Amino acid sequence: MIRKAVFPAAGFGTRFLPATKASPKEMLPLVDKPLIQHGVEEARASGIRDMIIVTGRGKNAIEDHFDVSFELEAMLAKKGDRKLHSLVRSISDMGDFFYVRQNLPLGLGHAVLRTMDMVGEEPFAVILSDDVIDSKVPVLRQMIDVYAKYSAGAVLAIQKVPREHVPRYGIIEGRKIGKGVYEIVDMVEKPKPEKAPSDLAIIGRYILPPSIFPALQAIKPGAGGELQLTDAIRALLSEERVLGYEFEGVRYDAGTKLGFLMANISFALKDPEIGPPLREFLRKERIS
Ligand code: G1P
Repeated sequence: MIRKAVFPAAGFGTRFLPATKASPKEMLPLVDKPLIQHGVEEARASGIRDMIIVTGRGKNAIEDHFDVSFELEAMLAKKGDRKLHSLVRSISDMGDFFYVRQNLPLGLGHAVLRTMDMVGEEPFAVILSDDVIDSKVPVLRQMIDVYAKYSAGAVLAIQKVPREHVPRYGIIEGRKIGKGVYEIVDMVEKPKPEKAPSDLAIIGRYILPPSIFPALQAIKPGAGGELQLTDAIRALLSEERVLGYEFEGVRYDAGTKLGFLMANISFALKDPEIGPPLREFLRKERIS
């Protein structure tokens, strides 16, 4: 039903400078896997085949990562390392990859608008790979189920956040209509805490209808002077049923240094190989 996922990946990654001076933020690893690969794996596990990545200058490593690396595969085959060979090959087999450039840093709404021709006239998903979510059932899968069950026009992942954090997010106003499901009646991008309609924040997973594109073309720059996806979705509220869904899973804001480190520690502790010695190290150093 949802065949395409859009991955905005053109940002400068300024929060991670100097690490991101010459390499894309999306390629920073969680243990041994780039952030964006976590997002692509989630999409794949949710039944999505077409991965549309919005890139910019200096992002070639992303394209190379999802491409076949002939030299590397030939070297691993020669060495007889089947395990690594199939690991490397499986990355380029994860889907069909399409790239479009966001040539100007005009915001998330602008990034999504750049994919209009590739998406065409069908509903699609948007994944912000900064938001890493550890869950039993992939979050996008959970959302597709809600989308189908409620015959929704759009579904946004949402999560309660501390009041003082609301200025970092798009915040919804909604009416609860089911377990974790809200009918959204209004939304605002990065409000002041006293102006926020709730403490339910939009997290970086969306299922959107193709009518989002004309809405994106019509909106004016919003918060931070950027074209905001939140503003375009808000414009759809009169014609589409837009739902917020409190997903099951633990979310890390890997777009900040602290959230990125927390995600790394949490994923590393779960890793069968390095988890136990890492735990031992943390214990010995009295870190935990
Ligand atoms: C974007 C969206 C915002 C959403 C957030 C989730 O903001 O504009 O509505 O709450 O992602 O991570 P950004 O983090 O790009 O500032």
